[in-house]
Amino acid sequence: MIEPDKLTREQFDLFRDFIYRHSGIRVEVSKITLVTNRIRRRLKANGLSDFDAYYRWLTTPGRETEIASFLDAVTTNETSFFRTPQHFAWFQEEFLPECVSRTAKLSVRPPIRVWSAACSTGQEPYSLAMCAHENTLRLAGRQVSILGTDISADALREAREGIYKQRAVEDVDPQRRARCFRTSADGETYAIRPHLKELIEFRHHNLMTPLRAQPFDCIFIRNVLIYFDRESKQRVVELLIQSLVRGGYLVVGPSEGIYDMLAPLVKKKTFLYQKPL
Ligand SMILES: C[S@@+](CC[C@H](N)C(=O)[O-])C[C@H]1O[C@@H](n2cnc3c(N)ncnc32)[C@H](O)[C@@H]1O
Repeated sequence: MIEPDKLTREQFDLFRDFIYRHSGIRVEVSKITLVTNRIRRRLKANGLSDFDAYYRWLTTPGRETEIASFLDAVTTNETSFFRTPQHFAWFQEEFLPECVSRTAKLSVRPPIRVWSAACSTGQEPYSLAMCAHENTLRLAGRQVSILGTDISADALREAREGIYKQRAVEDVDPQRRARCFRTSADGETYAIRPHLKELIEFRHHNLMTPLRAQPFDCIFIRNVLIYFDRESKQRVVELLIQSLVRGGYLVVGPSEGIYDMLAPLVKKKTFLYQKPL
């Protein structure tokens, strides 16, 4: 089959608008070659030979599965365990003890609810689960319940599976690696241990839409909004704030570009914002 050339500007604009409508991501024109290459993979997977035919096919009603695969192909899922370590240090050393002491006098103590919004292949929620499990004593019987969501079905599949290559766990401290992963016989893969998996529910979710769930004590929103335009960022931020309990925290990635939209929250650290009590 002949490989089609680069997307024309008109074709690029059509796909770009489509991506924007479905995810809130505004792809820069400078990414035209990258987007072309990613869409080429989808043409190949569907046995199609030109971009226009693919676009028509993608926009025919009932193409939800292909739309999910298309969005997977054009978004970036890069992530790692304990990415930006000071966020996790805060989580275990300050946040967990604060939650415990805040509710110490209550007879019924609800689980501490944490949302990893845009969790990609799971490294972020699993890092949170590791922190929670390592602090079992400090938690004094309080449960931690973690929700990991993403728009990418492929990323979520990997997250649910929880099996990682050697490269992905290289930077995890060796003792923690031994505690949290089961190594395969050939030493090539590392599977998350069941006691950590139990703490997490993975769910498909587009950040541009309201999440149907109880509000959270803490939300991690990191390395995702960087790709969104202002209007979409604003919408996501409003929805995230609605999903926080009073006194709940928002942990913000270093390049989200949303600091000026966080006025309803109180800044606690460069990366940390709290919903007023
Ligand atoms: C670079 S990863 C960040 C993963 C993790 N939060 C971290 O900081 O390492 C960005 C993730 O955002 C997801 N994403 C992009 N647009 C989204 C949307 N509208 N709703 C939910 N997830 C989205 C992508 O599928 C990708 O997995």
